[in-house]
Amino acid sequence: MPRRIIIDCDPGIDDSVALSMALYNKAFDVVAVTAVEGNVPAEMATINVQTVIEQLDPPRLPRIGAATSNDNSDYRDACFIHGGDGLGEVGFVTVDHHQRHASEKIICDEVRAAPGEIDIVCLGPLTNVARAIQRDPHFIENVGQIVMMGGSFNGIGNITQTAEFNIHCDPESAREVFHAPVKKTLIPLDITSQVQFSLSLMGLLPPESNAIGRFLHQVVPYLFRSYHQQLGLETIQIHDAIALLQLLEPDLFELESMTADVEIKGELTRGMTIFEKRCGRNAPHNLEVARVVDVSAARQAVFRYLNI
Ligand code: BDR
Ligand code: CA
Repeated sequence: MPRRIIIDCDPGIDDSVALSMALYNKAFDVVAVTAVEGNVPAEMATINVQTVIEQLDPPRLPRIGAATSNDNSDYRDACFIHGGDGLGEVGFVTVDHHQRHASEKIICDEVRAAPGEIDIVCLGPLTNVARAIQRDPHFIENVGQIVMMGGSFNGIGNITQTAEFNIHCDPESAREVFHAPVKKTLIPLDITSQVQFSLSLMGLLPPESNAIGRFLHQVVPYLFRSYHQQLGLETIQIHDAIALLQLLEPDLFELESMTADVEIKGELTRGMTIFEKRCGRNAPHNLEVARVVDVSAARQAVFRYLNI
């Protein structure tokens, strides 16, 4: 039985790689792909979800959810990494012919229709899941589990000194989701960033004769350029693809049950994830955090799932 999932994402090049691994994968039934404001503003995130699905042309079409702005005054996008359009400035043209439904509505509808059976994979800010919680009082008890890419266990951020991008975009929503009574697994930045990909990645992508290869050969080179120009790195990190692996290959990760929270106020620390690391405290644990990843096996798994 394939695992039924909703992918909530903000494409984004690494989101697109994760979608490429998921949409053809027989282990998954991707019932919906919902857009969230993050790497790009809401409208662009919605169009990019449509673009990625159109370009990948998967055998089964998921429902699509539309993003709306998170109204967070210190939100900033990540176009400096993903390109002005979020997809490497390739110039994809996508006609917006879908009837739009808000992402949080799609998430609530799908979970209500199959109580306990749907897992949510969050590859962007947690805005939509927090809104789903607010929208439907029975929503959270009907979710299977939530896997999230976000936060930083060691406290080193990527968008600020202390905050990881996804959490920083909407810290209030992240805090609400962290405290929601459902099984949650967090794959933080210090895990995903260990799995680095050199330019040899390009030679290991599927050939351009298939839809996944054709799409990724167009968008991934931008990530090498931006990592080099913006971060001074010769390798790239594909955070969201690594987070998705947690569902496909759980044995690649060592998890630890922890008490975690999100700082929503600090001038220098807004959006920082805080973990109870003191000994002898017995606050109830609220999520599982990936603490160790098998780097080389994770890299191989990404290639394997892109080439099925
Ligand atoms: C996260 O931020 C985004 O830029 C990526 O898509 C990923 O989800 C990494 O911090
Ligand atoms: Ca993302």
